[in-house]
Amino acid sequence: MTRTLMPIRTLRGFRDLLPDYMEDFRWVESRVRSVFERAGYREVLTPTVEPFELYEEKEGEQVEQSMFVFEDKGGRRVALRPELTASVARLFASTMGELKLPVKWYYVANMFRYEEPQKMRYREFWQAGAELIGASTPESDAEIVALGWDSMREVGLGDGAFIRLNNVMIVRGMLDSWGVPRDVQERVLTWMDKLGKVSESEVEAGISELIGRDRTRELLGLAELEGKDPSELESLVERYPKSREALENLELVYEAVKAVGIRVRITPALVRGLAYYTGTVFEVFVENVPYALGGGGRYDNLIAEYGGPSTPATGLSLGLDRIVEAVRERGIRGPRSRDGVYIAVVSEDLRVRAFALAQRLRYEGIRSDFELRGGRSLSKQAEYADKLGWRFVIFLGRREVEKGVYVVKDLESWEQHEVPEAELVNFLKSKLTSSL
Ligand code: HAM
Repeated sequence: MTRTLMPIRTLRGFRDLLPDYMEDFRWVESRVRSVFERAGYREVLTPTVEPFELYEEKEGEQVEQSMFVFEDKGGRRVALRPELTASVARLFASTMGELKLPVKWYYVANMFRYEEPQKMRYREFWQAGAELIGASTPESDAEIVALGWDSMREVGLGDGAFIRLNNVMIVRGMLDSWGVPRDVQERVLTWMDKLGKVSESEVEAGISELIGRDRTRELLGLAELEGKDPSELESLVERYPKSREALENLELVYEAVKAVGIRVRITPALVRGLAYYTGTVFEVFVENVPYALGGGGRYDNLIAEYGGPSTPATGLSLGLDRIVEAVRERGIRGPRSRDGVYIAVVSEDLRVRAFALAQRLRYEGIRSDFELRGGRSLSKQAEYADKLGWRFVIFLGRREVEKGVYVVKDLESWEQHEVPEAELVNFLKSKLTSSL
């Protein structure tokens, strides 16, 4: 009996990433790493799977609802990391004040969120993030913002990039003054985070139900001050001491980032979807891209919540998949140049010679490959080499082996060279730009 095999697809929201994509991905990643490293950040990596309690009540409703949570074989409730800030805070807390402050750490890792897949929203995605622990100065927030900005410049997106900046305590200060309990505040913030994603009337109705219409109006009045100078918010927060303090801090961060040439837009209704923020919050945008390419902010209480010493902290995460997409859409990297050498064989018995030659070239740092399949005509082998972007093809025949002279065809110029054995390596090195 024959059985038709069903193709097995990737799970919804998960992707296979192919070589062309991965080359762009690794390029973006290396550019972002260099931005972080130049500012003194050092790499850490934490586990992909964490105890569920690490995230419980710390991430906020939106992230918690979209977590991959399951029981492991030992009956423990575990989660795939939806982000890495919680792990970094846990890691720092476990060092119990042994490290010299401030600590500057960065990471590049995959994250998992069980969200409804849509454009550039995946269930597995990649972030590059930096966390600055042990400093509460406005300049530390400014530096974190600058890492986002510099990353955009470094990958060629600097022209359209801008930062939306706010301080979440402006909103929280108002809610505190009104005596709104913490759990209700979280829900108000979850609604506010939906601004721009669902209709404003829906947000207004959602918040009104929680804190009444007038206060909702006052809160949403903040949204109208987008793009204004922070001083224009002063009258609005006058009556709320914590909001006033937050605004003063926002002004300092704003001035610091503007002074180094960062394009920044005050966005007073920006609260972000994570619950742990206690001060500055921001998002990285590029014009005409409808979603954030990164985001972050200050979280001064999180480390103490994990049992560590009370330590201020601020950080950001960049969405690498979204940055790669923007880079590709704009054609920033341009067409790849041809590289390396492909060794085609005239007859099957020469394959072992081709293997030896490829190995020799590889040891010299020259990218090379040879005909492995067998049974293909020379023209088919050349076609394969051409399609895969090899720069040269060496046609290896008995005559070439006996004479010690190689026929080297340049697939860029279509020129053919006869190169003696002893000169081959130097000839190739002089023509190829990259050497490994
Ligand atoms: P976040 O805003 O949740 O912040 O994520 C940061 C970035 O990751 C987003 O701006 C977006 O580019 C990308 N991202 C998020 N979800 C997805 C998804 N489903 N698919 C593709 N890309 C996505 C954080 O994660 C915080 N840990 C930031 C932070 C660090 N705060 C302080 N330190």
